[in-house]
Amino acid sequence: MSYKIMGITAGRKNSNSEILLKAALMACEEQGADVTMINLRDFNILDCSGCTACTGAMAQGKYVGCTLEKKDDKKRIMDVMLDQDAIIVSVPTYDLMPASPYITFAQRSLSYETSFLEKINVIEHKDRVAGLISVGGSTRSWQAMALEGLQATMFTTDFKVVDMMMATRVPAPMQCLADDELLARARKLGQNIMKSVATPPAERGWLGEPDMGWCPNCHSNLLALGEPQWDGTYYPIECAVCGAGGTLEKTEDGKWKFVIQENGLLKDRTTVAGRGLHLDEIGETQIGLFRSPEKQAKIAERKGMFLEKKFKGID
Ligand SMILES: Cc1cc2nc3c(=O)[nH]c(=O)nc-3n(C[C@H](O)[C@H](O)[C@H](O)COP(=O)(O)O)c2cc1C
Repeated sequence: MSYKIMGITAGRKNSNSEILLKAALMACEEQGADVTMINLRDFNILDCSGCTACTGAMAQGKYVGCTLEKKDDKKRIMDVMLDQDAIIVSVPTYDLMPASPYITFAQRSLSYETSFLEKINVIEHKDRVAGLISVGGSTRSWQAMALEGLQATMFTTDFKVVDMMMATRVPAPMQCLADDELLARARKLGQNIMKSVATPPAERGWLGEPDMGWCPNCHSNLLALGEPQWDGTYYPIECAVCGAGGTLEKTEDGKWKFVIQENGLLKDRTTVAGRGLHLDEIGETQIGLFRSPEKQAKIAERKGMFLEKKFKGID
């Protein structure tokens, strides 16, 4: 059986993100994969308008898709992407995070929220995996949210991240071609993707560097101080990506370690169940507003002042 693997990039033409992606995809092709590759810069992708028509309908058990569906290329790409066994995403880092052509594309995926669509029987569950590549001119210090920003776009369509790599210090076009280690690591990422798709979904695990990042759950390198959540859940320290909660502990060799506490994976955003709890939060917060005459009165009283107020803009 031939596995379907799709590469998605948003970098300069014939440059680092494309080349490293190709190195990974070539390793997949060598193992018999059916490979597709696109650069998002070749497509017209509009910004999400924030209308929430998609989730509004889903909340009532209906499917309407996206209001922009016929206006750009998003659906054309998603039809192929969601039919894959795996994707490899390779994106340049701009201002510490993934470049905007990719983010614009990813933030148009709300109407494809797999946990919602499965719940209202529009789609059947499909297990897919992903490998992520961030490409920047500097070291990790200047790519602080790059891989984590890519990880954050994987939940909505349920791609399980099994490997990630960061290409550092490749600012010039094609500079990665002079770096043996980077090319070899990209190839390894492709091989890991093939290994993962050939593994039964329940047994698929992390194949990247075992000690990568702070978080033992999703391997992100971003931690945040916790604050009480809407339902009272409180963790002293949270993983900014998957939401795992716990504390920092000092190991015997004097290093710091993020230790996930007993109920710390309750809201793990990489799982359908964890995301489901966030849907409960949205419901509670929005329904809470509709049910509160006091809040409705405040909005009715105050809105005129803000809607009528105008400042000068730019011609
Ligand atoms: C607008 C802009 C912002 C950038 N910001 C960063 C950054 O914050 N960190 C970094 O490491 N590199 C940054 N870079 C460098 C690119 O990530 C680097 O040139 C990379 O090789 C681009 O990938 P590509 O060759 O696939 O297009 C920036 C480049 C541009 C054009």
